[in-house]
Parts: sequence; C-alpha cells; structure tokens
Amino acid sequence: MMYPEYRPRRLRRTESLRALIRETTLSPKYLIYPLFVVHGKGIKQPIEAMPGCYQFSVDAVVKEAKEVFDLGINAVLLFGLPEKKDPRGSHAWIKSGVVQNAVSAIKKSVPDLLVVTDVCLCEYTSHGHCGVLSNGRIDNDATLELLTKVALSHAGAGADIVAPSDMMDGRVGVIREALDEQSFDQVPIMSYAVKYASSFYGPFREAAECVPKSGDRRSYQMDPANAREAMREAMLDLEEGADILMVKPAMPYLDIIHLLRQEFSLPIAAYQVSGEYSMIKAASAKGWLDEAGIVEESLLSIRRAGADVIITYFAKDVAGNL
Ligand code: PBG
Repeated sequence: MMYPEYRPRRLRRTESLRALIRETTLSPKYLIYPLFVVHGKGIKQPIEAMPGCYQFSVDAVVKEAKEVFDLGINAVLLFGLPEKKDPRGSHAWIKSGVVQNAVSAIKKSVPDLLVVTDVCLCEYTSHGHCGVLSNGRIDNDATLELLTKVALSHAGAGADIVAPSDMMDGRVGVIREALDEQSFDQVPIMSYAVKYASSFYGPFREAAECVPKSGDRRSYQMDPANAREAMREAMLDLEEGADILMVKPAMPYLDIIHLLRQEFSLPIAAYQVSGEYSMIKAASAKGWLDEAGIVEESLLSIRRAGADVIITYFAKDVAGNL
C-alpha cells in the first residue's frame, strides 16, 4: 500500500483518532517512587542535585507516602541513611534501622501502598562500597551473608518486595533461600539484575551519602559497553529465583530493556536514575526544555522498549497528569 492510496496522516488528524490507535500507555499504577529516609524527626531536607526530592525522617516519610498513594501511585522504594556507619554496614540490618522503622510505619498507615526496599550496604558502610572490603577488594561471599540479614530484616519489618542492588554474584539465590526458610516465601525479589557502573548515579550518591571513599564500583557493577553480559546476568537471576528483573539506568540502556523483553517472560522493571532526573530538571529550570513533555516522552520510551515497571523520581510529577 502506497501513497496516495495510503495516507498515514489520516489517523493522526485528531486527538481521538490518535488515542484510538496509541500503542503505548502510561499509568501511575506501574510507577515506583523512590524515597530517602533519615534519622530524626520532622525532617524534610531538600537534595540539592535533585530538585523536588528530599531526605525524610520516618514521621515525614509516612506523610509523603500517603500523598504518593493518593496520587494513584502503587509503590515506593526506600533507601536509608543510617545514624552510624561502620565497615560492615551493620545498621543496614538492625531491627530499629531507619528503613525497618519506615517500612513498618508506612505499612501501618498506608497498608495498600507497596513498600519495596533497596537491599544494599553502600549507604551503611564507612567506606561506601556495596560489600565487605578486605585488602582493597570487595569480598563477594562474605557480603552475601550480610545481604541476607538485610533482606530478612526488611521482610520482617513488613516489606512487600525486596530489591537487591549490590551486584554481588549469587545474592538472589541466597536471599531467596533465606526468605523461604523464615516463611517469607510470599515476598518477591526484584533484582537489580542488570546494573551498570554508571556516571548517571552521581546525584543519588549525594542524596544517599554513599560515595565510595576509595576506588569505584566497576569490579561489581557492569561495564556500560556490554550487552551480551546483560543476558547472562538476567539469566542467572532468573535461575536463582528473581521475580522481577530490573535494568538500570533506563534511558541510556533502552536496547538492553528491549533485549531482555524479547528473551524473558518475567516482568521487567527499569530504573530512571538520579542523573536522568537531574539532567531533565536542570535543563527545564533553565527554560531549555519543556519538562512535562520530556518526562512523558522519556517514560513512554522506557515502556515502548519493554519495561513493565518504571522506578522514577518523576512519579509524583506525572501521576496527576496521567
Ligand atoms: C545502591 C544504589 C545506587 C542507586 C540505587 N541503589 C547507587 C550506586 O549503585 O552507586 C542509584 C540510583 C540513582 O542514581 O537514582 N547500590
């Protein structure tokens, strides 16, 4: 079929026609809003590099969670900034930790809001790495034991989903086994299956105060040059019992989201990370970009690539318009 018999513009003539044949849609139901929790009371501290995002104390995060839920958003993802850091990150799994307290407080006052927890050590270790540091190296197997404690403590506090983001080998399997043993067999694992060593995490490290004191994360997070390796990482996590596979960051890795979508039937999540957020916020603040338009287009691109779930700091901004 060719012009002039076929005229693609016929179906673009009005908004009703365009809506009729729209292939990709957005809804707040599959957005996850990240939240940073700190010790203290009555705290809502702006994060400079992420305008519109804050560090909240537990009482304040409950208020925020209510607001998020009322906007139609289904889920939040919690990160904790502990009172004290040590080499092993022990405050990541203590019963009265910030995340543990936030989970139970949110579940108590907004029970239908899904609470997902980031399972990692970097915010809790004094050296800022995601695992146990020994002789300048990250000890994979020693870290697994600690991650298991973190995941169990989150599940114990009432987390609906745990999300390991450390990129240690074998962590999904040991966490699944530990959860099952402690009768948390109904708690799903959303694994950061394909997490790149990305410069787009810059603003987050300010927000979560987890810049590594020495070196970088390239011995555990993936090389941005690799796509085939992403398939291996995703396959391992699937075999170890992951329920949702995540790709992170999102927009610079749409090809990876698409690859996973074609290869796996598990739900796929994509994390539109802090740097993606801050770029758009900064350019919009300067009047160089139309923020609402860019945000919608960026989320559509992530969905079109194949993501079911999107973790985004824009969730609150867009929920009202969807
Ligand atoms: C913790 C973690 C990071 C992010 C999510 N979980 C930081 C990192 O790996 O350095 C980044 C999120 C973002 O940039 O929005 N390991």
